[in-house]
Amino acid sequence: MKTMQIYAFDMNCVGHINHGLWAHPRDRSVGYTDLDYWTEFAKTAERGKLDGIFLADIVGVYDVYKGSPAPVIETAAQVPVNDPLMPISAMAYVTKHLGFGVTVNTTFEPPFLLARRMSTLDHLTKGRIGWNIVTGYLDSAARSMGFDKLPEHDARYDAAEEYLEIVYKLWEGSWDDDAVLRHKASGIYADPSKVRTVSHDGKYYRMQGIHLCEPSPQRTPLLFQAGASARGQDFAARHAECVFIASSNPRAARSTADALRAKAEAIGRGADALKILNLVSVVVGRTEKEARDKLEDYRRHASVEASLAHYSASIGIDLSKYGLDEVISQSSTNANQSALASITKQAAKPVTPRDIIDQMVPGSGMKPMVGSPEQIADHLQTWIAEGGIDGFNLARTVAPESLRDLVDLVVPVLQERGVFKADYAEGPLRQKLFGGGNGRLPAAHPAAGYRR
Ligand SMILES: Cc1cc2nc3c(=O)[nH]c(=O)nc-3n(C[C@H](O)[C@H](O)[C@H](O)COP(=O)(O)O)c2cc1C
Repeated sequence: MKTMQIYAFDMNCVGHINHGLWAHPRDRSVGYTDLDYWTEFAKTAERGKLDGIFLADIVGVYDVYKGSPAPVIETAAQVPVNDPLMPISAMAYVTKHLGFGVTVNTTFEPPFLLARRMSTLDHLTKGRIGWNIVTGYLDSAARSMGFDKLPEHDARYDAAEEYLEIVYKLWEGSWDDDAVLRHKASGIYADPSKVRTVSHDGKYYRMQGIHLCEPSPQRTPLLFQAGASARGQDFAARHAECVFIASSNPRAARSTADALRAKAEAIGRGADALKILNLVSVVVGRTEKEARDKLEDYRRHASVEASLAHYSASIGIDLSKYGLDEVISQSSTNANQSALASITKQAAKPVTPRDIIDQMVPGSGMKPMVGSPEQIADHLQTWIAEGGIDGFNLARTVAPESLRDLVDLVVPVLQERGVFKADYAEGPLRQKLFGGGNGRLPAAHPAAGYRR
């Protein structure tokens, strides 16, 4: 039987996507500035045999709603937000198998530096690092970095293609496998004839240099991607190994998953080259009644204002300008095209801000699954079967309660049914997820072409 993958979705901040819940009496997310908060989180995820922790990131602030960052500053909606890479070494230190997917934006920092940071983490985690490649959707981020606004949607992906070419050359091609000798008798650490300078002179980037890190277990980190517009899907099909989608029902997930796999197949990577994960929010109790009571309790703390501010920035439309029951009719954006399409072109019926509030509170953009452990397990299995997906990215609600609930109540049921692993496989993250190999990218991936 096919086993599912599960990641814990989080962010190095107080309010991730279930806005307002930080104020719940049992929520501990204000502890995000402490290493203990992160090491405990990682230990819980590994106790539940989760495949990994997936850390989101933005480098701007949500200021589209009411034309101001005030609503999100007041409600801690993804601001303040600390760097997502920093807690990873500590989490890796207290775990052995857990993977780490971390979001880093290609638009605002040179590929050379990103390549070194990822290689460093691949060494320190012993091959358990993954990179969620994002190109950004916030003009506020662009302004903070000295630009007037974000580059145009498709041009961001074009630049990212070039960015990847450079990091692939650095990770895969700069050092030969046998370049490092560590030969104490001769005093020779590495053979310079086996370390090559990478050169790139393209439309968006220009660089020359050797990769500063010696080869790490996976070399190229496991590659995640989350953009689902037509251009985003092309990009994912070419580069991603795990694709993070946010479909609101299994039928929509199936259509995205089929499109992605068909594209991966058409370019010779094979339909199995992609693992597709859907965003999910779970409220579980020992009984259905307990779960429903818990949801009601959570709802009392949810922030409508923060939810609208977040959604406005995602779709690049100020929802404060709409009446609560006015249909959102704008159909194009330079922000997140797939998020806008999900409430316009792909929506089963016209969507209003009231519908968005209903979806967002407190379900992180999608209605939470609510029920007993067996009911949640049934839902997850239905999504896998009908949605054609491989697993889930579990949003937090009240932290760390929601992760503990999943681990203690749902995981044992899934394991008993044989649809979730009882233990981890050995080896680097890529090997654990895809089996076989040595943790390196398969030959059909475009990065493999840069190996010597
Ligand atoms: C489930 C999901 C998670 C995402 N997480 C992030 C994130 O952490 N940081 C970010 O900058 N963008 C994030 N994005 C945005 C995408 O990377 C992408 O920029 C956006 O969806 C626009 O691309 P598209 O128009 O191709 O969908 C996420 C998107 C989705 C669907």
